[in-house]
Formats: sequence, structure tokens, C-alpha cells
Amino acid sequence: MLPRTNIVQQATDERAKNQAAVPLCRRLSVAPMMSYTDRHARYLLRQISRRVLLYTEMITANAILRGDTKRLLDYHAEEHPIALQVGGSVPHDLAACARIAEDMGYDEINLNVGCPSRDVQQGRFGACLMAEPNLVAACVGAMVTSVNIPVTVKTRTGIDDQDAYEQLHHFVTTVATVGCRSFVIHARKAWLTGLSPKQNRDIPPLDYEKVFRLKMDVPCCEFILNGGVESLDAATAHLARIDGVMIGRAAYHTPYLLADADSRIFAVARPAPSRRAVVEAYLPYVAAEYSRGTPLVRMTRHLTGLFNGWPGARSWRRAMSDGARCAGPSMVVQALNEICPVHAATG
Ligand SMILES: Cc1cc2nc3c(=O)[nH]c(=O)nc-3n(C[C@H](O)[C@H](O)[C@H](O)COP(=O)(O)O)c2cc1C
Repeated sequence: MLPRTNIVQQATDERAKNQAAVPLCRRLSVAPMMSYTDRHARYLLRQISRRVLLYTEMITANAILRGDTKRLLDYHAEEHPIALQVGGSVPHDLAACARIAEDMGYDEINLNVGCPSRDVQQGRFGACLMAEPNLVAACVGAMVTSVNIPVTVKTRTGIDDQDAYEQLHHFVTTVATVGCRSFVIHARKAWLTGLSPKQNRDIPPLDYEKVFRLKMDVPCCEFILNGGVESLDAATAHLARIDGVMIGRAAYHTPYLLADADSRIFAVARPAPSRRAVVEAYLPYVAAEYSRGTPLVRMTRHLTGLFNGWPGARSWRRAMSDGARCAGPSMVVQALNEICPVHAATG
């Protein structure tokens, strides 16, 4: 593990290179997803949209403070704007994590109050914290007073039988009093017993109206709606009633849906890059990481959904997942030329 001063110095250099190139705006973000939104996936997504806000996977406060901080939190300067999501419930520890995140140049730190997994509950963090608004306020308050970057919370509409709108409103307003101004609401409640985390992402029904109602009732805060949004059309429709939209699974599995995000959501004059251009922009990064010893498949697996719907998409997917286990980066070029020859590089 590197000493903290080294981590901070490296991060400061990195920040100087890139900071403020792109302003933080939460109109559209890609959700934190464990085992998916690692730094390679985020670098790839950044080649598709310059403006969408990217979240890390949830990293526990314990791992940040007692693990290999540099390895866990490292990211590429091009990933900005980028938010670190943490899991924990010890105010002092979370404040220390917030300071590290700020030192490393993260644009935001987000507290996970939505994960229903049993391990997370046993650690007393994630969705079960919805039952303890005062503890969440203590955590967020400790973070807010420690840093200048925004501290945000990602939560659900409720847990178990505590799913009345009034309880959600009470939770949000309690946390808002300590300075949290931005809430991501996964618009379904979580069942803490009886459903797996995967089932908890589909079985409890979506209830967007609760999120819209929060926006009306707590206008001083920003609300980001999450859950079941699968296209920019759907996101745009929600944005008529809410400050921002966060897309999870759809953005990962069909990343090209973000191609028009800069122009349509952020009003930036940037034409959508072609799929071929996205791969070409990703390739130098892949080659550099590969030469540093990162297994190729860790980077190519994020490309599997890029050509979904195209003729040849199945062999592309196979090459990016299985093929990459025993090949070098030239395999990607070859697969790219097969599915999308240079002269056909539109869309
Ligand atoms: C594989 C996977 C891992 C996830 N990991 C996290 C996580 O680390 N932190 C978090 O707040 N939510 C996590 N989520 C939940 C998503 O952030 C999001 O709230 C959920 O998928 C609903 O959005 P969607 O319907 O757009 O996918 C995860 C979801 C998936 C599918």
C-alpha cells in the first residue's frame, strides 16, 4: 500500500491535468454497479459521452481506510466527472473517506443507502440505514463538514413495511438538514429479507410518482430518478419533472444508448461518435493497460454490448468475452474490422 501522502500527491497531479474540464451536472448519470462500473468500464463509457456523470462501484469505508486505497480508488484523468460511492455507517470513518475522495480529485462522494444484500446489512450499512435517518444524518453531516465536494445519498423509496411516502419524506428532510442537497432515489422499495439483491432490482414495483412528489415537497433539494430507465427518450420524458435521471443496467448492457446524451441531455454541440470511433478511442487505453499486465478480458468484457442488434453481434460478444482470454489487443482490431469495416463506420 502506498503512503497516503503519495496517493494524495499523485491525485493532485492528476486533478491538475484534468479538473474542471467538464462541469459536474447530474441531469444524466450512470449508476454505481458492483462488478460492472470498474475503471475500465467508466473509461469506455467516457468515450461515448463526455458529460454523463459516472459513479464507481460501491466501496466500503473499511476497505478504503484499511485496504489498498490506491488500487481501489485509482481512476483515469479522462473519467471526470466522476463520483465515488461509499458504504458505511461510522461518521468518523466516512468523513475520512470523503477527505481521501476529495484529495484524489473525485467530483462527488455518494453514500449508499440502497443496497439490500445480507452482508451489507450485517455491516449495518446500505438500505437498512433507511430505518435510521438520524444515523445517516450524522454520517452525512460528518462528511459535509470535512470536504468541499458535494456529498450525496443514493437510497430507495422505502424498506420492508416502512414504505409510506411520509417515511421517505422524513428520511430525506432529516438528511437534508445537515447539508445534503442531492438525492438519487431508486424508485422501488427493498425487501431486506426474502429477496436477493438481484430480485430486489426487479420485483418490488417501480413508483416514480413518489420521487416526483418529493421534488414538489422538498424543492430546495435536487432529486435524481433511478430504476427501469432504458433509453434517452424515457430519460428526457422524466427530465420534464425531475432534476436528473440515473441509468444502470441499460447503460451497461447497451452503452451506445448514451451516444446522443451530450447533445440531447446536456445541450453540447458534439456529434454522436460512431461505434467504431468508440472502440478506436478505447484501444490505446486497452493497449496501455494490457502492457501493464491487466488481463485483456477485464477490458473487453465491457465492449460486449456495443454492437447489440448488428449482424455479427454474437461473434463480437464471443470474441470480447471468451476470445479475449487467450489473445492480445490485436484481436479487438480484427473483430472490429469484421463487424464494422472502416468504410461502413456509421452509427
Ligand atoms: C450488477 C449490479 C450491481 C449494483 N451495484 C450497486 C452498487 O454498488 N451501489 C448501488 O448504489 N447500487 C448498485 N446497484 C443498483 C443500481 O445502481 C441501480 O440502482 C439499479 O440497477 C436500478 O437501476 P436500473 O434499472 O437503471 O438498472 C447495482 C445493480 C446491478 C445490476
